[in-house]
Amino acid sequence: MIKQLRKAVLPVAGLGTRFLPATKATAKEMLPVVDKPLIQYAVEEARAAGIEQFCMVTGRGKTALVEHFDVAYELESTLRERGKTEAMAALEGTQSEPGSITTVRQQVPLGLGHAIWCARAFIGDDPFAVLLPDDLVLADKPCLQQLAEAYYETGGNIVAITEVPREQTNRYGILKVGRDDGRLVEVTGLVEKPAPKDAPSNLSIIGRYVLMPEVIKYLALMERGAGNEVQLTDGMARLIGEQPFHGLRFEGRRFDCGDKVGFLEAQIAFALKRPDLADAVYAFLKTYV
Ligand code: G1P
Repeated sequence: MIKQLRKAVLPVAGLGTRFLPATKATAKEMLPVVDKPLIQYAVEEARAAGIEQFCMVTGRGKTALVEHFDVAYELESTLRERGKTEAMAALEGTQSEPGSITTVRQQVPLGLGHAIWCARAFIGDDPFAVLLPDDLVLADKPCLQQLAEAYYETGGNIVAITEVPREQTNRYGILKVGRDDGRLVEVTGLVEKPAPKDAPSNLSIIGRYVLMPEVIKYLALMERGAGNEVQLTDGMARLIGEQPFHGLRFEGRRFDCGDKVGFLEAQIAFALKRPDLADAVYAFLKTYV
């Protein structure tokens, strides 16, 4: 029986060093693309996929991420009094069901695998999604929803994948693939950040996963991998052969918002999708190119 996917883990403990000084006193996941912080894109995408319970794996200085989804009583009553209906509507996606967001702390930055392991009590015996808010996907159907639909077809573990240029394999988790029907691929191996010459393919994992709870027991071994960190990819690799494991070529465009150029590109791409902004943005872009 394929269990319903209701839980998501959001690893948000990173220091955001690539965005200093902007991230000195604020969480990098609070940086906005157009007018919405990265964390909210991730939460909204997860809700669209049926996720009801969230666990943020946070660290010091990250309280704004939790505040963002709380009731802002003063702000809301002031807006109501002043009849600012548009501004009130803008807050809609920040409303969350009482009790639906929990946090755990990752006290030390030991890697993504360690961050997920920190959420083990939240995960329990249930399947769970992982969303890395740095990866932003522009798609007609939200990326995690595509992944969840594929999960209900195949069961087991499934990751969203995309092709990357060979010379970039050392930035991502890379798949070794078996059967491939052009949309779903059977994963026969996983390597974290291989050098281009060692990469088994150029199919990379993006920050969207549906995983089975058994991954936790492998993460608990705390084996260090690439960058001397506990890698989620290595824990997942141990599940291959024990459980179904697939990659899904999702439809849409991924923007790596952990990178300055990727972040700027996301600003433009998302602004051009906005009916209230597209014309003005397009007009000024033409003056630069
Ligand atoms: C993480 C994962 C990697 C994955 C990537 C997607 O790497 O470890 O396997 O391909 O996210 O963005 P990070 O970006 O944290 O270095």
